[in-house]
Amino acid sequence: WDQSALSIVVVGASGDLAKKKIFPALFALYYEKMLPKNFKIYGYARSKMGDEEFRDLIASSLTCRLTDASDCGKKMDEFLDRCFYQAGQYASDADFAALASRMAEGEAPLECADRLFYLSIPPNIFTAVAASASKAASSKCGWTRMIVEKPFGRDSESFCALSDELYRHLREDQIYRIDHYLGKELIENLTVLRFANLVFEPLWSRQYIRNVQVIFSENFGTEGRGGYFDQYGIVRDVIQNHLLQILALFAMEQPASLDAEDIRNEKVKVLKSMAQVRLEDVVVGQYRSRTTRGSTLPGYLDDDTVPPNSITPTFAACAVFVNNARWDGVPFLLKAGKALHSRVAEIRVQFRHVPGNLYRNKLGLDLDKATNELVIRIQPNEGIYLKVNNKVPGLGLRIDTTRLDLTYKSKYEATLPDAYERLILDCINGDRRLFIRNDELEVAWEKFTPVLKELEERGVQPELYPYGSRGPVGAHYLAAKHGVRWGDLA
Ligand code: BG6
Repeated sequence: WDQSALSIVVVGASGDLAKKKIFPALFALYYEKMLPKNFKIYGYARSKMGDEEFRDLIASSLTCRLTDASDCGKKMDEFLDRCFYQAGQYASDADFAALASRMAEGEAPLECADRLFYLSIPPNIFTAVAASASKAASSKCGWTRMIVEKPFGRDSESFCALSDELYRHLREDQIYRIDHYLGKELIENLTVLRFANLVFEPLWSRQYIRNVQVIFSENFGTEGRGGYFDQYGIVRDVIQNHLLQILALFAMEQPASLDAEDIRNEKVKVLKSMAQVRLEDVVVGQYRSRTTRGSTLPGYLDDDTVPPNSITPTFAACAVFVNNARWDGVPFLLKAGKALHSRVAEIRVQFRHVPGNLYRNKLGLDLDKATNELVIRIQPNEGIYLKVNNKVPGLGLRIDTTRLDLTYKSKYEATLPDAYERLILDCINGDRRLFIRNDELEVAWEKFTPVLKELEERGVQPELYPYGSRGPVGAHYLAAKHGVRWGDLA
């Protein structure tokens, strides 16, 4: 570890993601002593800037996760001393060659260095960068890896074109397709929860589970990202990737081992077993403005970067089915929306009724409300709880539906690492378990492309919902059609 050098290049270094997530994650890794001794970081973008100006730019977004970190300022300075900036065009072999010679200077006197490129750039320049970077700046004797950010296309066709193009310059084992939801603590814990406990796995099937809900909501709108967002919409932005990845991990069979290939083989099988998403099983919505207490929260169409008559959905709910022996007939409800009443991401597993429940008639127990529900709260306030029925202590017989609660904050002291920290570290270590393989995405697009096309070709109007509300009523009808009540709205 001490003998190897690592050069990390953040392409698109002046962008939002780099500033908000990538540099803070790299700093956290440095602070936690997780980076090799000889590492250097290079920001690469088109704008002209010196090293000092670049350091000032990123310094403002670095924070110390550990509150008692008295040496944080000193560590930040040390970290910034290892950061450099190189201006260059995205499709220029010559500019990447200039970057490469700068990296070589930084890597000396060690002869061998690994090189990691983080492509934090729009998809239309992915392949140009991959081409120039791999041709002019890849490592001569160590490894070269590239982390690529979504969107990986906007339908099956564009995905395949992008993927073919990437393969012209990189091998699959060099491409790290990132889905940052896979780096979240509770998502990584899913496999532990299922396969390291006896009590859940036997119940994990159509026999005991009535439905599964994967819910994502944000209490803010597209704010400044309307231009990007409008080309994709919420289904492509969140459901087809983040929520579907969660579904795959949730529903997969036990892999042969914890190796990346074994896990990803199982995820692909789940996605392949999924039925095509049908138009009648999708509800779309778009937030409109709302005035409360004299102030107005802007609607989606009030965003200057959004075309005036856009029908791009900012909310969508859909019911999908995994037609295999384990899940046949169980609705998986996926729901995602912006500008809703709260920010939350969670998985809700609703179990079936207790057959012949002795307490049903005696106490007038509302069976729907009293069924067990397992909630995996991805964020905020991470935790897991199980709704159980319990006798209220005392002489009488009263039943309370309450929680067996594992809220992380009250159980663990450690601050949770950001998803980007974990994923960048995994990439450095060559651990591909939490990165998406090409065939996973190919199948994911196959399942969603027809319905996305139908929505667009038919010009389906999204149901309007006020900013800060609980979303369109249509989502309730969709759930009810499948005999489900949304757990987050119960
Ligand atoms: C991104 C989406 O992938 O995830 C954004 O493009 C969304 O629209 C974001 O806001 C949510 O991530 P997180 O980690 O803040 O829940």
